[in-house]
Amino acid sequence: MKVIVIIPTYNECENIARLIEAIRIQFHHLASRMPAVRPGILVVDDHSPDGTAERVRSLQHGSSGIHLIEGEKAGLGAAYIRGMTHAVEVLDADVVFEMDADFSHRPEDIPRLLERIVGGADLVIGSRYVPGGSIPAGWGWRRRLNSRGGNLLARYGAGLGSVRDCTAGFRAIRTGLLKRIDLSRLGVKGYVFQVALLHAAIRRGARVEEVPVDFVERAHGASKLRLADIVEFVRHVFRLRLHDSQTFIRFGLVGALGVIVNLGAFTILLGMEWNRYVASPLAVELAIASNFLLNNFWTFRQRATRDPFHLRGLKFNLVSVVTLSVSTLAFVLASRAFRPLSPQLCQLAGVVPAWFANYTLNSRWTFREEGARPASR
Ligand code: GDD
Ligand code: MN
Repeated sequence: MKVIVIIPTYNECENIARLIEAIRIQFHHLASRMPAVRPGILVVDDHSPDGTAERVRSLQHGSSGIHLIEGEKAGLGAAYIRGMTHAVEVLDADVVFEMDADFSHRPEDIPRLLERIVGGADLVIGSRYVPGGSIPAGWGWRRRLNSRGGNLLARYGAGLGSVRDCTAGFRAIRTGLLKRIDLSRLGVKGYVFQVALLHAAIRRGARVEEVPVDFVERAHGASKLRLADIVEFVRHVFRLRLHDSQTFIRFGLVGALGVIVNLGAFTILLGMEWNRYVASPLAVELAIASNFLLNNFWTFRQRATRDPFHLRGLKFNLVSVVTLSVSTLAFVLASRAFRPLSPQLCQLAGVVPAWFANYTLNSRWTFREEGARPASR
């Protein structure tokens, strides 16, 4: 199992050499506990004017497993995207770590995160906001508000409520998960990368776990967080939200059209003197067919589904059987219980529970995004 710790750096010359040394000590401890682990370090430097890259190059002489890539400064997220792509494509990593260069994340915590990956998690967060985790006692209200606010926005704005620390920059990630995410299409440059990546992982069904860590305030150098990062953060969280609700709204519109098809066909069939108990399921079936085509080519168009078209069609039809039974049952119950009700109203009574079952099953099964497979160990 190849494990690469990715460290983005911008003017971290006072920290980087000591950090690499501290990480290597942890690697030594790991060698006896997890002999299968082949560790390495990848520094992603953006031509830091303070000579960070030179420090790394001098460490590369005489020791293997230290990698360095350099690029133009485009932000923390852009650096991680370059680093992760390199770790996957060139270094052939099985697991990558995200880690700050300024000792805010303790190298001693690396083994605890890795253990969870080995235990089957796809993405492990070194979390400040689960019991046992902490932020520096010396943080002023501004810093606290920034961090808490960002997390609240991510949790409830971007719909990541199940995770406590959505902005944490200390993580272990299985590259099998990364390969299913098109990093270049996340559309982020700065610190909001953390939220965008987590969002993409969760939407692909990744198993996310949090382990408590103590976040340590940096002793040397300064934070690179700028107002532009905060602006991008807020904007992007709303973009994520909008995108999620778009799918939901589209499914709703398709469903509404289905109701029209359903009731229209039903009325026509009744006009043709069909038995209402035959006309009802037939009308539903017609609506389901039109729903499938619209959902397939419009609502869930962007989902990277696991199955080919014909299998999706098959699944949709199986879901239809459930939907049809739910709908017909509701129709029969409504017809029997409320005799004076018009047949159309009884038919409508079947639509609501059927639509709900249809959405849940199709979203989670038929059009399920190809997710991270659970670990086979
Ligand atoms: N290559 C590169 N390019 N590295 C960068 C850039 C960049 O544009 N901007 C920041 N970094 C590096 C820093 O050198 C450091 O190693 C790491 O990214 C984190 O940067 P800091 O400036 O120390 O971030 P912070 O302490 O304000 O924020 C930390 O906590 C946040 C949550 O409170 C980070 O861990 C964030 O990821 C996290 O969201
Ligand atoms: Mn920092």
